[in-house]
Parts: sequence; structure tokens; C-alpha cells
Amino acid sequence: MSGGPSSSQTPWWRNAVIYQVYPRSWADADGDGIGDLPGITARLDHLAALGVDAVWLSPFYTSPQHDAGYDVADFRDVDPIFGTLEDADALVARAHDLGLRIVVDIVPNHTSNAHVWFQAALASPPGSPERARYLFREGRGEHGDQPPNNWQSMFGGPAWTRIAESDGTPGQWYLHLFDTSQPDLDWTNPEVHDELDDVLRFWLDRGVDGFRIDVAHGLVKAEGLPDGPAEFDSANEPTALQPMFDQPGVHDVYRRWRRLVEEYGVPGEDRDRILCAEAWVLPLESLAKYVRPDELHQSFNFAFLMTPWLPDDLRASIDEGLAAVAEVGAPQTWVLSNHDVVRHATRLGYPQQPGHLRIEGIGADDPQPDTALGLRRARAATALMLALPGSAYLYQGEELGLPEATQLPDEARQDPTWERSGHTSRGRDGCRVPIPWEADLPSYGFGPSGASWLPQPEAYRELAADRQDGVDGSTLELYRALLRLRRERGLGRGTLTWTDGYGPDVLALEIASDVGPTLVLTNLGPEPVPVPDHLEVAVVSGPLTADGAVPTDTTAWLLSGT
Ligand code: GLC
Repeated sequence: MSGGPSSSQTPWWRNAVIYQVYPRSWADADGDGIGDLPGITARLDHLAALGVDAVWLSPFYTSPQHDAGYDVADFRDVDPIFGTLEDADALVARAHDLGLRIVVDIVPNHTSNAHVWFQAALASPPGSPERARYLFREGRGEHGDQPPNNWQSMFGGPAWTRIAESDGTPGQWYLHLFDTSQPDLDWTNPEVHDELDDVLRFWLDRGVDGFRIDVAHGLVKAEGLPDGPAEFDSANEPTALQPMFDQPGVHDVYRRWRRLVEEYGVPGEDRDRILCAEAWVLPLESLAKYVRPDELHQSFNFAFLMTPWLPDDLRASIDEGLAAVAEVGAPQTWVLSNHDVVRHATRLGYPQQPGHLRIEGIGADDPQPDTALGLRRARAATALMLALPGSAYLYQGEELGLPEATQLPDEARQDPTWERSGHTSRGRDGCRVPIPWEADLPSYGFGPSGASWLPQPEAYRELAADRQDGVDGSTLELYRALLRLRRERGLGRGTLTWTDGYGPDVLALEIASDVGPTLVLTNLGPEPVPVPDHLEVAVVSGPLTADGAVPTDTTAWLLSGT
């Protein structure tokens, strides 16, 4: 048995379902083809009706948008393409009126190169306090014309760029684990700590309910910035073998942040402000350290996201995920899609092999997925995930069953990955295409002008929200039913026990909460699974067979008959 406590007094975040809005792509109120905060506010009803607990907003701060807003020039203001600070306040207020909490993104690993700090650093000499907020170093080699170490940018190419000093001579190099426009901050500098504390307080004072921490495992680098291993297998080797990730000192940052957010909790009221790590860290025991009682509340389980649609792999992934966090008394944080990975309706539409699934972008000349199969499995996978003890994150559009846009013209791509990889990695645009709301409107209702910053596939028309609303069996109605029943049955605060007797291709889980047991069957085999006599199907991810059995690639939630 493993899982969370069985009490209706459980703090909200331990079993919350949190929906990610990617502001560029959710809803465009002003018609410039890019989503914005007023657009989000106007459509929050959709999320209240869906039945989620909270909304996480990807960055909407002042930014030149070289990495779609993850290059922040001013942490305390809203970029004009998204609106104003008043728009942000109105969004938070409307969400709270609807009973939705708001989690915002915080990007502490780097700033934009347009940030005043970086501009000041460029204008100041080597060794100055302005340079000391970032990681400037002398180059290697006789003329300093080699990067200070061998680190590579996550988007491809070296992680160092050389600047020209104010007299025009070639100068120091600065570290950027991502794009050249995203210089890394130096977290050994107390000024950086103080600044980010202040940014957290700025948004907490405006009423937000928590933060998703971007690149949470990257802030602290190994002392001396040593070379990393020439070859690194990120699926099988401990992340901390890389000197830029998962270094022990990062945990001190989060202990400090936990103390800070706890100042904002209200004793006796379920109003904890939360911190959720985006940390691509393995093994799971190392990831669990981020959610020790005095650190963060949640940390995405990306190992689950990358698990293939195979019974043994899924069962092991769930067991390992629950066991790792049980060690530290934290809930697990399940997720299947986000703005950085291929949507699960597409990932699962490819043949599945043991190991890890491909999450990099797909182009028109790559093998294409079986979209019907992918959607069927995606619905079953979500129904499995939403039954698991812990919290879960959903990514915008998955409730419509949206597939990845796998045929985007390469000229339309905007993710810096595509250029920096020398056109070898397609990047993440395919999961960021604007949402279809109304099938018969221009840009499927994304905005009033019909403009859309990435072209929407024709296939999105039939998947528009208005085509699914109230339609029995639609993906939207499935998500609503799952979320309603998850709440009624207390599944997120339940405990999980595997049940035998359904054969090796079937995952059979009993989730017991204070409300009673729910049996969850996920059939990954070819043969339909009959529903046991004493049970009734409460919700199912796809049609049952003519004689009422659970067919392949389908998940059913079963309850005792009345
Ligand atoms: C995180 C974000 C990703 C961004 C990167 C750099 O991984 O999720 O979108 O590109 O950090 O900020």
C-alpha cells in the first residue's frame, strides 16, 4: 500500500488537479494572433466547468520572446503582448471568484539578455559587481578564444557566448544553459537570492497561490564550473553527474523559499501557497529530495510522462513514483503533457518499445503517428493518471484530445531549438499551437481576427471545444466526468493496491479513500476484460464492447453496484 493520507483535511495541493495555460496559445482577446491575459480571463469559465482546482500560467512577463517568454526582462511586469499588471490582477480575481487558484511561473535560472542587470553587466568591466550576478568567465586557450568549459546549451551548440568589451575587444564569455538570449544567474551571489525573494513576494502580494519553478535543478552549478562528461545518457545516469544540474546547494535555495511562502499561509485555512519544481532529475530518489517536508510541495514526475504504453513499464513507473515520494512523505505529481514535449495523444500513436518515449518535436518528413490509436490510448492514459494518488497536471488542449501539430511548415517554427540545433531538432512548436474553441470561426475562435502565431492544423476544427461540449463520449465530456468522479471518490488522497486476476496485460488498481474503494482497470492487451459481476462502470475512457467488457487501450473506473 502506498499513497497519501485518507483525510478530507488534506492540504489542497496534495491531490489538486492543475491545468497549464500557455498564454501565447490559449485565447487572444486583442486579435494580434498571440494569446493574452484578457483572453484567458474571458475563458476561465471553461476551466471551472472542467473541474480543475488550479491554473498554472506559463510566463507572461516582459520579454523579447526569444524563448516564448522564458527569457524574462522584467520579473515584475506584464509584457504588452499579454496585457498589463491590471489585467493580471483581474485574472487572479476572476479565478478566485470561480474557486480556481493561480500558480505562476518563476524563471530563476536565467534572465533575458534584455534585463537591466545583464545590460549593466555588459556595460561594466570584468570583476565588477554587475558582472558578478551572472556567470562571466575568461575563455580558455592562449587568446581566450575557447569557451571556459565544454558545456552544451540545452537547445544545441555551446553554452557559452563571448562578448565584446566596451572598447570593442573580444572579452569574457557568459554562460547560458539555454539560448544566447538567456544568460544564467550566479546563485552563489547573495544579491540574486534577495532579488528572487523579492520577486516571489511581489506576486504573492498580488494574490497568486504558488509558483512553478523553471529549471529548478539548474540554479546551482558545481564549484569551479568543471567540464562535464563527454557522453551522458540522461535516461540511465544520475543527473547530478552533470556539473550544471541537481547540485546539492540547490536545496538550500528551496528551504529558504519554503520558509518564505509559509509566511503567506493562513493557519486553519486551506490556503497554502505552493512551489512546484520543473526538475528533469533522475533517479527518482534524487528528485524526491526536492519535495522533502521543508522544501517544495510538488515536483513533476517526468519519468512517468516518458513511460511507454506497456503494462510492465507503466506498473513499474507508478510503483517507483509512489515509493520515491513515500520516503519523504510527499504526494506524487503526475503529468502526461506540457509545452516542452510532444502531446501524449501523439506520443502514444507510435509503436511502443520498452524504455523511454520520444518527446522531441516531429516534422512532416518524420514518420507520422496513428492519430486514432494515439487518442484512444491518451484517453486511457489520462483516466489512469487521474485515478492515481497525488496531484496531477493537465496541459491545455489535452481535454479536447488535441494531437501534436506534426506537419508544421519549418518556416513557421519559432522555438529557438530549431535554429540552434542547425535544423536537426524540430523543437516544441508542435504542442504550442493555438487552441480551437469554436469550429466555425476564423482561427477556430482563438481570436477575433483569425490570426494565429502558429498555423492551426485542419484537424483541430472537429476537435474544437464547441463541437465537444455536451456530446456524449467526447474527450471534453470524458475529462469532466473523470474530474468530477475523482473528486467525489477522493481518488487523489487515496491509497493504491494492485489487484491480481486480470492477466499480465491489464493494470488493475484498487484506490481506497475515506469515501470507499474504486477499482481502476486499464486494458493494454488484445482481449476485452469482462467487468466483474458485483461492479458497475462509473466512467470509461472509450466505448465498452457490445457485451459490456473493457476493450483494448481503454481504462474504466468501477464501483460497487448499489
Ligand atoms: C524550461 C521551460 C522551457 C524553457 C526552458 C528555459 O524547461 O519549460 O519552455 O525553454 O526552461 O527557460
